Amino acid sequence: MTYTLTTPLYYVNDRPHLGSTYTTIACDALARFQRLQQDSVLFITGVDEHGQKIQRTAEAAGVSPQIHCDRISDSYRDLWRRWDISQDRFIRTTNPRHRQLVEQFYLRVKASGDVVSGRQTGWYCVACEEYKDEPDDADSPTCPIHQRELEWRDEENLFFRLSRYQEAIETLVARDDFIAPASRRQEIRNFVAQGLRDFSISRANVAWGLPVPEQSGHTFYVWFDALLGYLSALLDDGGEIELSRLESNGWPASIHVIGKDILRFHAVYWPAMLMSAGLPLPKRVFGHGFLTREGQKMGKSLGNVLDPERLLDRCGVDAVRWYLLRDIQFGDDGDFQQQRFIDLVNNDLANTIGNLLNRTSSMARKWFNDAVPPRHGNSGEKHPLAIQATKTIHIVMGALPELAFKQAAEAILQLAIAANGHLNDTAPWSRMKQPGQESSVADDLYVVLEAARIVAVLLTPLLPDLSERILNQLSLAPVSDQWDEQLCWGGLRPGTPLPKPSPVMQRLELDEPL
Ligand code: MSP
Repeated sequence: MTYTLTTPLYYVNDRPHLGSTYTTIACDALARFQRLQQDSVLFITGVDEHGQKIQRTAEAAGVSPQIHCDRISDSYRDLWRRWDISQDRFIRTTNPRHRQLVEQFYLRVKASGDVVSGRQTGWYCVACEEYKDEPDDADSPTCPIHQRELEWRDEENLFFRLSRYQEAIETLVARDDFIAPASRRQEIRNFVAQGLRDFSISRANVAWGLPVPEQSGHTFYVWFDALLGYLSALLDDGGEIELSRLESNGWPASIHVIGKDILRFHAVYWPAMLMSAGLPLPKRVFGHGFLTREGQKMGKSLGNVLDPERLLDRCGVDAVRWYLLRDIQFGDDGDFQQQRFIDLVNNDLANTIGNLLNRTSSMARKWFNDAVPPRHGNSGEKHPLAIQATKTIHIVMGALPELAFKQAAEAILQLAIAANGHLNDTAPWSRMKQPGQESSVADDLYVVLEAARIVAVLLTPLLPDLSERILNQLSLAPVSDQWDEQLCWGGLRPGTPLPKPSPVMQRLELDEPL
């Protein structure tokens, strides 16, 4: 079975921001973890390129929509490369193969009797690409999310008969394994309980979209087209665009990871569309929280948007990944605070983990011929650090499949703290001066180095680069595949040469705001 996971397909109306980077980093950690567990993983990301929002952005920039999309898609692709994101597929919804798939899917839905004509009237938010409920202030209707003026629409459209799926969707969203985290389930259940209304899937006046077959002048509603990008990505293997190939190509997805803003599309509209087309449903939809910055919503008008490019240049991949994954409960909202970011990176990575490795390795080199010390009676599986390592592995293995990155990171950090504690308690630097202590010092240094090795192996999915640098300092190769064996206590071989230590993590010194 393939483990397929997806990020949202990001709108190319603007350059990537920290929000999309956050989701993508989390998915990358999950993808890396799954690859260490099993053979077949498909990590999908990409961009959503149609619709009125993008059409207008391109017009404002004075370029054709396609040129605009090419530029922004490239900037996403480049950014993910620079962040070392390990996606297997990057899908663009302007890809002609995607159009083929959308047409095929639409014809299936139509054949199920789920496409009807109707009249769509209501208030539309172009930024959300969504119709809104009756606004509170009828004189100046505004989108509650974007604070932008809503636009009145009245047009003949094609509708998808969502109302037919009321019961099936009610049952689906009531399941305790479909919507995660559990805290987001009720909101969707309430929405469904109000009664599902058919939604329009075509637009009469949006040129920048995929044409609806046999419906001249109509393009598909951008969400109808975008969700199908998850399917085209799976068929993007050079073979035929054929819906019947999906199930041998990684469908259904094991998980769609998205922000809470688009949960309704993924947990209600999307499953109904798939039911109509006779395709299996994704197994889980995870709606994570939103990031703010120093307590404020990030936005262009506030001038407080954190640019992921700049963050990367100034702080590096490991620092940002650590902060986002270790400090924010994935699922809850989180606040990016510069001082806390600096403190956590310096304390956890530079001091607790980096210095641990550095000082232990220096002592081992000095007293044991530049190598991992020999083992004597007290470095086996019954050693308290070995016992804690086993517990840590257990916590990490339980946490990561649930996207509980924070719990996993904290447990790993606790193991490094315990290893530091062991060094401080046993003080090898003073015992080494006493006669007859050499073997017990060797054991103490061995267990600490071995704990550092396990820390590095466990960090692989969260901080692949740092993990590699730590292992390198222990003369070990990076973890590449099945990691079970590498998580067994005692993997570090006595006598392995230890290179001259150099800091694995630079301290962050930021004297001005990012
Ligand atoms: N194009 C649609 C998704 C289609 S999926 C078939 C879309 N794109 S988006 O560019 O607006 O991206 C939305 C996603 O970006 C959110 O769901 C979330 O993953 C991420 N974030 C955007 N701003 C965010 C924050 N401030 N904080 C955290 N993540 C946020 O919607």
